[in-house]
Amino acid sequence: MVYVDMGYIDIHTHIIPGIDDGSKSNKESVEMLRQAYAAGITTLIATPHFSKGFCDYNTEDIRRYCRALEKYAREKVCADFKVYPGQEIFYNEKSLGMLQSGEVIALADTNYILLEFSPDITYIAMFQALREIAMTAYFPVLAHVERYGCLREAGRMEELRQLGVMMQMNYAHIGGKWYDATTRWCRQMLKEGLIDVLGTDMHNSTDRGLRMEHALTWMEKHLDEEYITELMCHNAQTIIMSVHKEDGNE
Ligand SMILES: [Fe+2]
Repeated sequence: MVYVDMGYIDIHTHIIPGIDDGSKSNKESVEMLRQAYAAGITTLIATPHFSKGFCDYNTEDIRRYCRALEKYAREKVCADFKVYPGQEIFYNEKSLGMLQSGEVIALADTNYILLEFSPDITYIAMFQALREIAMTAYFPVLAHVERYGCLREAGRMEELRQLGVMMQMNYAHIGGKWYDATTRWCRQMLKEGLIDVLGTDMHNSTDRGLRMEHALTWMEKHLDEEYITELMCHNAQTIIMSVHKEDGNE
């Protein structure tokens, strides 16, 4: 079922070849793009990992590749396909300064930033980092919230959302087995309306691809249509259409 005429938006992808542990080649990236479009996605943000000292590269490389991929998509896949630059930022105390100096890219050059932490981070450390960022001009979007054990305790998701943090969940676990603890938690969070945006976090076109199908089957049964469109499209659109830091971007 397609919920929105304009198509879905995926704000979390590793579709740029040769930068991180995502796509390994142009051919793979094109296959990922085609699979995304076949699933109803017409806008995506490329978010290669950023971790200082682990994967350093010129941000211009990311922008250049996004432009090339968008050009290809518009010619061969869908005339108004959009590809925006971004990064998935592994948080450390230097992250803010690097954003301000342009060394890392916010989501579609807005003030929203896709952030990840070590999966075993304590809640206190995560809370303090997110609070610090939320007090600046940036809006944190917490990547794959299902990965953090510290968020499984009651009330913590609510507390972080009150800081203004947007919660991004991957499709993959929503469609898992009913007895899987992470799948159960994901579904509970969705039923409680505590998730803001879904993403594929796709790394390739095979074992870490879209993984949307089973998630959608479950969502159609258990969530209302309005919330599904928020999760798959409208909240991501709010991010992309928010005030951009730089002129000249769409
Ligand atoms: Fe990711």
